[in-house]
Amino acid sequence: MRIRARLSMSADGYVTTPNGWPALTADPAFVSGESHGIREFLADCEAALMGRTTFEPALNNTRWPWPDLDVFVLGSHRPEGTPDHVTTDSDPVRLLEKIRAANKGGDVHLVGGPRTIGTFHALGALDRLELVVLPLLFGAGTRLTPALDADTGLTFRSQRALPGGSVEIVYSCEGSRADLPGRPASQR
Ligand SMILES: NC(=O)c1ccc[n+]([C@@H]2O[C@H](COP(=O)([O-])OP(=O)(O)OC[C@H]3O[C@@H](n4cnc5c(N)ncnc54)[C@H](OP(=O)(O)O)[C@@H]3O)[C@@H](O)[C@H]2O)c1
Repeated sequence: MRIRARLSMSADGYVTTPNGWPALTADPAFVSGESHGIREFLADCEAALMGRTTFEPALNNTRWPWPDLDVFVLGSHRPEGTPDHVTTDSDPVRLLEKIRAANKGGDVHLVGGPRTIGTFHALGALDRLELVVLPLLFGAGTRLTPALDADTGLTFRSQRALPGGSVEIVYSCEGSRADLPGRPASQR
């Protein structure tokens, strides 16, 4: 099981639009049905993990966004209307234990947002950071850092151009860059 965060972001580095929606929702290519590689990504996933803030809007969707995945939500309370099959917990360590106990070998899609990605990275549980950089500038919005430690060590794995002008970049994640072996003190 790998925990893989996948986030869309504007070319000027915002993971939300100025009014707080996931960056992808502003892309005309997404609105007209382009999936930005999510179908291939989900082929290896059996669960979705997210923070309460990211989860709550899905309760008002006409279509359940994670039909084929077990869903795990980190939050201090269980939002009203949460379907019975969704697992919620206020403690990230306990939630991680539940995810591991339920796992049958597939990956976990860490949907976001930044606080929840930062939380699981701090626990040493973030394996991959996958970014879809959109051909858009927002000028304002929420950034991935500082919720995710800006000192996170990233190792490049792959890149690919997606239809509609977006680019997917995949990194594997280590702890802090300062901890990486062979890294000179001057670069820490
Ligand atoms: N660009 C993208 O692809 C993408 C993807 C997903 C989300 N987003 C955007 O990200 C924004 C939300 O991000 P966010 O970082 O503010 O919120 P979030 O990570 O979705 O949820 C934050 C909530 O998760 C719980 N939580 C997080 N860390 C915790 C910890 N260490 N211990 C206990 N509970 C913890 C808390 O719930 P309680 O408040 O209940 O305690 C916290 O308020 C939204 O605007 C969404 O649109 C963008």
